[in-house]
Amino acid sequence: MKIGIISDIHIDINYTDRDLVTPAICRYIKENSLDLIIIAGDVASDYQLTLTSLKEIEKSGNVPCLYVPGNHDIWTENHPDKTSWEIYELLKSHSHNLANGSYEIDKNWIVIGDLGWYDFSFGDTQYSLEDFSRMKYEKRVWQDSIWSVWDRSTLEMHRYFIKKLESQLNRYRDKNIIVVTHVLPIKDFTVQPLSPMWEYMNAFLGSSEYGELILKYPNVKYAVSGHVHYRKRKVIKGTEFICNCLGYRTEWYENDNADVEVNRAMMTVEI
Ligand SMILES: [Fe+2]
Repeated sequence: MKIGIISDIHIDINYTDRDLVTPAICRYIKENSLDLIIIAGDVASDYQLTLTSLKEIEKSGNVPCLYVPGNHDIWTENHPDKTSWEIYELLKSHSHNLANGSYEIDKNWIVIGDLGWYDFSFGDTQYSLEDFSRMKYEKRVWQDSIWSVWDRSTLEMHRYFIKKLESQLNRYRDKNIIVVTHVLPIKDFTVQPLSPMWEYMNAFLGSSEYGELILKYPNVKYAVSGHVHYRKRKVIKGTEFICNCLGYRTEWYENDNADVEVNRAMMTVEI
C-alpha cells in the first residue's frame, strides 16, 4: 500500500490562467501508482474550490483522497453569508473528509484526523493570552482573526479538536494509526530561526498538546500535519511526524512548474 502525503496545495493562490496543481497531483498519483493520498488541509480559501479539487483528484487519480480541512478551507472571505462552522459542515460532503470519521485502510491500519486548532503554546512566553488573542503583530494581522468565524474562542476550538482526537485514539488502541491534523503537533515544525515577529506568530501554528497526546499512543506510526510551508520529517519515540506542504508558487524552488514541485513535495510512505 503506497500512500502519498501532501498539504497546503492552495490551488487558488497558485492559480495562473487555470488550476495547475490539481492535474499535477493526479498525474503524480498515476505515474507513481499510489493507492491512497492524504491532503492535510488548505486546498483553497474557498470551500467550493476545495470540494471541486478533491473530487477531481479522486476521479482522475482514481484513489481515495483523505483530507482534513485547513484554516484557509473554512475561511468565510469568499462566503460572507456563512460561518466557519457552516463551511466546516459543507466540507463533509467530501466523503473522505476525516472530519466525518476514521478511514480504515485494512484490518491493521486506520487513519484519523481533523483540522485541529491552536492554543498559543508555540508562541513566546513573553506574550500574554490577551496579546495572542489580538492576533496582530505590529501591522501584520493573522488572517484567521478576520476570516475564521467560529462561535467559540480560540482556546475552546483547540479543546474541541483535542477531545475529538483523544476519543478516537482511545477507540483504536488495537490498530496502527495515521493521525492527520492541519495544525502542527510539535514545536520542531514551527518557524525557525525565530524573528521577533515569529516569536509571536508561531502561537497560531498549532499546539504542543497534540504532540504530547499522540506520543502517549505508541500505535500512532505517522502524524501528518501542514499549515506552515515546510517539508520536514522527524521521528520521536517511533512515531514519524511529517509536515509536508506544497506551499505557494512564490515559495517554490526557483521554478514555476507544478509537476516538478509536486514531485519534490509529495512524500510517500509504504505500509
Ligand atoms: Fe493553514
